[in-house]
Amino acid sequence: MAEWTISIVLWLLAGSFIYILLWLSYAYFISPLSLIPNAGILAPVSRLLWAFPSEHRGRITLDLPRLHEKYGPLVRIGPKELSFYSLDIYKTVNTVQSPFIKDPRVYGGFVQDAHPGLFSITDAYEHAQRRRLMGQIFNRSKMNLLEEYMTEKIAAFVLLLRQRGVQPVELARACRALEADIVASFGFGEDIGAIAAWGSGHDVNIIKENDDKAQIMALLSNLPSVTTAWYRIESILYNFTGWQTLSTTAMKDFDKWASSQLERLTSISKLPFEPHPNFISTMIRSRLPPAIALSEAKEMLGPGTDTTSLTLAHILWGLAHDISFQDSLAADLALAHWPTDMTGLEALPRLRAAVKEGIRWAGAAAAMLPRIVPKDGATLAGKFIPGGTVISSSPIWYLRDKAAFPSPEIYRPTRWLDGDAESINPLRDEYYIPFSKGSFVCIGAHFAYLELYLSLSQILKSFRLTLPDSGTSMLSREATLPERLEWVAAVPVVRLEVQFLTRL
Ligand code: HEM
Repeated sequence: MAEWTISIVLWLLAGSFIYILLWLSYAYFISPLSLIPNAGILAPVSRLLWAFPSEHRGRITLDLPRLHEKYGPLVRIGPKELSFYSLDIYKTVNTVQSPFIKDPRVYGGFVQDAHPGLFSITDAYEHAQRRRLMGQIFNRSKMNLLEEYMTEKIAAFVLLLRQRGVQPVELARACRALEADIVASFGFGEDIGAIAAWGSGHDVNIIKENDDKAQIMALLSNLPSVTTAWYRIESILYNFTGWQTLSTTAMKDFDKWASSQLERLTSISKLPFEPHPNFISTMIRSRLPPAIALSEAKEMLGPGTDTTSLTLAHILWGLAHDISFQDSLAADLALAHWPTDMTGLEALPRLRAAVKEGIRWAGAAAAMLPRIVPKDGATLAGKFIPGGTVISSSPIWYLRDKAAFPSPEIYRPTRWLDGDAESINPLRDEYYIPFSKGSFVCIGAHFAYLELYLSLSQILKSFRLTLPDSGTSMLSREATLPERLEWVAAVPVVRLEVQFLTRL
C-alpha cells in the first residue's frame, strides 16, 4: 500500500477517534442533561443501549421507579431523553393547551392506514378539533346510548360462563374477549365474534395480533427502518410464493372485515335515523371523511380493549379473594335492583370503590407517555432542560405511590369508601391519574367506567366468585398484585383463575 494511502487512513482513524472522544465528552460532561443521573452507564450514548432493551423486555416502567427512588425526580434514559417521576412535573407537562407535544416517533407507530387517530395525532390544533368531534359520543351525557350494546354482550358472556359450570376460568383471556366485542360493537356497529370464539376455546386472530404488536412496539418505534424492510421482504415473498406470516394474514382479514363494516355503515348513515348508534356512523354524520372514521375505530380497538379487560380481570380476581367485600357489594346491588344506567351504578359507593381501586391496582395503561420539551426549553425540578428533549413518565407510577396509597400492591377497595374526613389520605385523589391529565386525557374514561360497572355488576348478579383452591372455606383476604410485564398495556405472567359459582 502506498505511503500516502496509509497516512490518509491514519488521519481518518485519528479524526474519527477525536470526533467520538469529543462527542462522548459532550454527552457525558457538557450537555445540559449531563447534570442528570443516568439510568445506566450507556444511556447518554444511545437510547438503543439502555431504554430500548428495557422497553423490549417489558421492564422499563418496572425498573425506572426504583431508579427514581435512588436518584430523584429526573433520570436520563437516552442522549436527549429523560424519565421523570414527580406529580408537579406531570401536571406542568400534561396540562390543557400544554406546549409539550406528543413524541411523533412513538405515537406514529399506532397510526392505521396513514390516517392518524385522536391518540396518535401530534399536532395540537388538529388534535383539539378531532377531540371536539369525538366528544359527542364519548361525553358523560352520551353514556345512556352505550348501555344497550354493553348489556347485550355481557349477557352473551354470562351465558357462556354458566355453561362452563365450576370449571376455573382464566380471566385475562375471558375478559379480553368480552371487552373486544364491546369496543368493536361500539366502533363498527358489529362485534368481532370474540366472545363466541372464546367460548369455543380460541382467540380471534386480530386480538392476538394486537397483543403481539403491543409487545414489539419498542422494536417498531426504535427501529422503524428494520420493520419497513421486513414488511417489504414479506410482501415480495408473498407475491412470488403466496406465503405470509400469521400476523399479516390476521391484519389483512381484519382490514377486510373493517372495510365491509364501513361499506355497510356508509349506506346506513344515509338513513334519516340511526338504527344502531355507533362510532363510525356518528363520525360520518358529523362529516368526518369515512376513511378517517374507519382508521379512528381501528386505532381504538387495541387500547380500548386491553385496558378495560385487564382491569376487569384484576377486579374479579381481587374480589374472589375478598368474599366478604364481594358479598356486601352484591347485596348493595340487589338492594338497588341491579341498575344498568350510569347514574344508578355510580350511586353505589361500594361499586365505585371496587372499580376505582381496580383501575388503580391493575394500572392497565402502563406505557410511558413521551412528550417533547418546547423549543425554548423548560426548567423542571430546578434543572434547565433544553428544547427538543423527550421527557416521559407513566401514569401508573403515581397509582403506586406509597404515600398516597399505603401498601399499593394490595387490592383494597375500602381506600375509596369515604368514612370520616380524617381517614381519607389527603394525597389519594391527587395521585389518582390512571387516565392521565390535560388535553390528552383519556377520552374513553366514562366509557371505561360504564363498561366496568356494568360488567362487574351483571357478573355478580349471576355468580359468586371464588379462587379455585379455596375449597369450602371462603376465607376473605386481600389480593396482592400478580407479577407482570409492562408494554403498552400490562401483561400478568401468572394465570388469573377463578371459579364462577351460580348465585342462588
Ligand atoms: C381502564 C381503562 C383505560 C385506561 C386506564 C386508559 C388510559 C389512557 C391514558 C393514560 C391515555 C393517555 C395516553 C397518552 O397521553 O398518550 C389514554 C388516551 C386515550 N384513550 Fe384510554 N384508557 C382506558 C380506556 C379507554 C377506552 C375504553 C377507550 C375507547 C373506547 C380509550 C380510548 C382512548 C383514546 C382515543 C385516547 C387518546 C386521547 C387523546 O389523545 O385525546 N381508552 N387512555
